[in-house]
Amino acid sequence: MPEIIIGRDWDDLKKYGNKGTIPIGKNIVGTGVETHLASEIRVDVLRPHVTVIVGKRGSGKSYTSQIFAEEICKLPDDVRKNLSVVSIDTQGIFWSMKHPNNKQRDLLYEWGLKPQKFDVFEYVPVGQKDKFDEMEVEYDNTFSFKPSELTVADWCYALGFKEIDLEGILMSKVINKMEGEYSVSDMAAKIREEDYDNNLKLKVENILLSADKWGIFSEEGTNIYEFLKPGKVVIFDVSLFSSDDVKALIIGLLMKKIYEARVIARRQEELAAMEEEKKEREVPLCWIIIDEAHNFIPSYTQTASSEIILTVIKQGRQPGISQLFITQMPDKLHPDVLAQADVVIAHRLTSNRDINALKAIMQTYMLYSIEKYLDDLPKLKGTALIMDDNSERLYKMRVRPRQSWHGGESPVAL
Ligand SMILES: Nc1ncnc2c1ncn2[C@@H]1O[C@H](COP(=O)(O)OP(=O)(O)OP(=O)(O)O)[C@@H](O)[C@H]1O
Ligand SMILES: [Mg+2]
Repeated sequence: MPEIIIGRDWDDLKKYGNKGTIPIGKNIVGTGVETHLASEIRVDVLRPHVTVIVGKRGSGKSYTSQIFAEEICKLPDDVRKNLSVVSIDTQGIFWSMKHPNNKQRDLLYEWGLKPQKFDVFEYVPVGQKDKFDEMEVEYDNTFSFKPSELTVADWCYALGFKEIDLEGILMSKVINKMEGEYSVSDMAAKIREEDYDNNLKLKVENILLSADKWGIFSEEGTNIYEFLKPGKVVIFDVSLFSSDDVKALIIGLLMKKIYEARVIARRQEELAAMEEEKKEREVPLCWIIIDEAHNFIPSYTQTASSEIILTVIKQGRQPGISQLFITQMPDKLHPDVLAQADVVIAHRLTSNRDINALKAIMQTYMLYSIEKYLDDLPKLKGTALIMDDNSERLYKMRVRPRQSWHGGESPVAL
């Protein structure tokens, strides 16, 4: 049975065949009692992509995203060593990739697969080590940022100030006066020195000092090249923050670092290519997975991660950064994300507003209405539509079962 390859153009198909593609599921054909699984569906990972996974609560979005991570881990060495994965785990569910999925063993056997654990690296905020120890979550390392890495806008988004308000102006003054490396307390001390209204200073200082309790700052900060390594899959667990603003700040800072590192590396790769020099890639291409993406790149407001995400969406192809966004609410996602996506996976959706958000990008490839396609999907977990902007085609799909343990299952009261 021929395979279906998503996200690969004709030239690459001729050149590479199915090399550097990952199997994520099978095509569902027929309707009613005739329904069955046919060709394997594979997705290109040699080139950068913007992928969006949508679907209502519990429809299988996070599960599907982790199939991408598993399959990248399983790629042959010559492809894998050129790739890395950075998963932003907003719910604390991805660390379970370190454990085999014994629960769905029977289903896996039906697919010719076995439960398997994967070598992934869990990074937790430096100031939350004790909490993760208490929860007995195995982590491999901690991450942190230097306060000097944050711009005025970063601070304002994360602390809930507006840059044009007095609080924002005070922050801007202080940050512009800071020199070298400094701590949050150094910044607070500088605020006290400013010639401003005392109540305002007290308010800004207090809110700023609360940032020290996030546990994400240190003098050294995490070196990007420590986790952006060939073949490495890293999970940044941000699940213990109750504030989406802090999660957005972390996502924004990480993405800026990855983007800069890849822009620099790309220039060196091109120079080496011009001189026909054969060099191993030191800084791999990167797949960034962002769950609950509507909170970090929303349509209705800006966050500390909005700007860099939009930059990477528009300019990430050249440095080789792929993004995989997951959302329950495509309607709340910034419209540029869906507009620029070249692979869209839609699990079950019922709200009209969310279906309409997809219509704008999917409808051109369809014979029938998107509602009909979604209605025709068998009512099983892990069924979805997959849209390929390259071939302008849409397929019904059943996503394969996970080999590693899925941490996102809802608890049962019995
Ligand atoms: N392809 C699949 N094969 C078998 N079971 C699946 C598949 N996809 C999802 N499931 C089952 O569905 C459950 C819910 O999936 P998942 O956690 O991915 O939902 P979600 O869409 O991310 O939900 P939420 O929006 O609440 O985060 C999983 O715990 C798993 O048991
Ligand atoms: Mg989920």
